[in-house]
Amino acid sequence: MTFIGKDIETAAAMLANDQVIAIPTETVYGLAGNALSISAVTKIYEIKKRPLTNPLIIHLPDTIQLNKYVKNIPAIAEKLARHFWPGPLTLLLPKNSAIPDIVTAGLPDVAVRIPSHPMAIELLRKLSFPLAAPSANPFGYISPTSAEDVKRILFRKIDYVLDGGSCTKGIESTIVGFDGDTPIIYRVGAISPEAIKKIAGKVEINNKHIAVPVSPGMLPSHYAPNTSLYLTNNVEALLKIFPQTGTGILAFKNPCPFIPKDNQEVLSLTGNLDEAAHNFYKAMHRLDSLNLERIIAERVPNVGIGIAINDRLEKASNK
Ligand code: TXA
Ligand code: MG
Repeated sequence: MTFIGKDIETAAAMLANDQVIAIPTETVYGLAGNALSISAVTKIYEIKKRPLTNPLIIHLPDTIQLNKYVKNIPAIAEKLARHFWPGPLTLLLPKNSAIPDIVTAGLPDVAVRIPSHPMAIELLRKLSFPLAAPSANPFGYISPTSAEDVKRILFRKIDYVLDGGSCTKGIESTIVGFDGDTPIIYRVGAISPEAIKKIAGKVEINNKHIAVPVSPGMLPSHYAPNTSLYLTNNVEALLKIFPQTGTGILAFKNPCPFIPKDNQEVLSLTGNLDEAAHNFYKAMHRLDSLNLERIIAERVPNVGIGIAINDRLEKASNK
């Protein structure tokens, strides 16, 4: 069975016993296990059906723990960490031998994050090990932002979902590596490139598809619903091509008068991008559960967290 509960002690005991459970973070729910245990990490890859070539992020409660797992922290990384942690920033740092190679898929850098969700921090503080946690969805599918969505998509694959409510940010962390003192964004996320640039003075984005992706967030198709998704700047123009029956709409702020309300999700009636990000994956999960023929999704303004929403929509449409 898969139980939903709020018992941090139970969650900690299960994790100390090498079990894999779902935990809340401020971005999306994570599928968590002891990052130092090859048995727990292997279970994460198996449950997620994730290729072993795709590394995992480790989660820590505070920066004091960081030196136990990385060889060094570049000054620019420290500056970003000081500004954005706890929060939706993941840093690629040179790992030491405490982190098993299976966690990083053999790469020399480990992805590290200090989440800001109070239950995640409380849980991490109770543990003597970091938590490896990818998003709690089968590989390639839509990330979950509520305990109920986790239970539905991982039913009977895990025993416990620690319920921390609906994730406040709603979009995954921004992944940042370094080339000297230049931060390179490998996955756009909840912290915008402008925000990184403001602190670091410069930033580059390497979010393009390459043959061997550094980060699977770079794969052309990812974060995708089972229903075909068409991405557009103009919903009404696309509606002239497709029949209205069997069509669902994912709109930024304007409901569509031609489609039944039940088959629509409006991300933010006031056009607020943070609210749109918060509602995004939940809306995708609901539309995908309706077994429609197609979903027409509208691009959002390409600024701030909107850059990450559009990135996920682009990848969801490439099936
Ligand atoms: O917000 C988040 O980051 C959530 C929550 C649970 O923390 N986690 C998450 O994990 O989105 P995941 O595994 O679904 O996505 C992590 C991305 C993957 O694209 C992975 O390839 C990349 O991070 N990644 C992990 N370790 C890496 C490494 N050492 N080098 C490059 N990319 C790495
Ligand atoms: Mg993921």
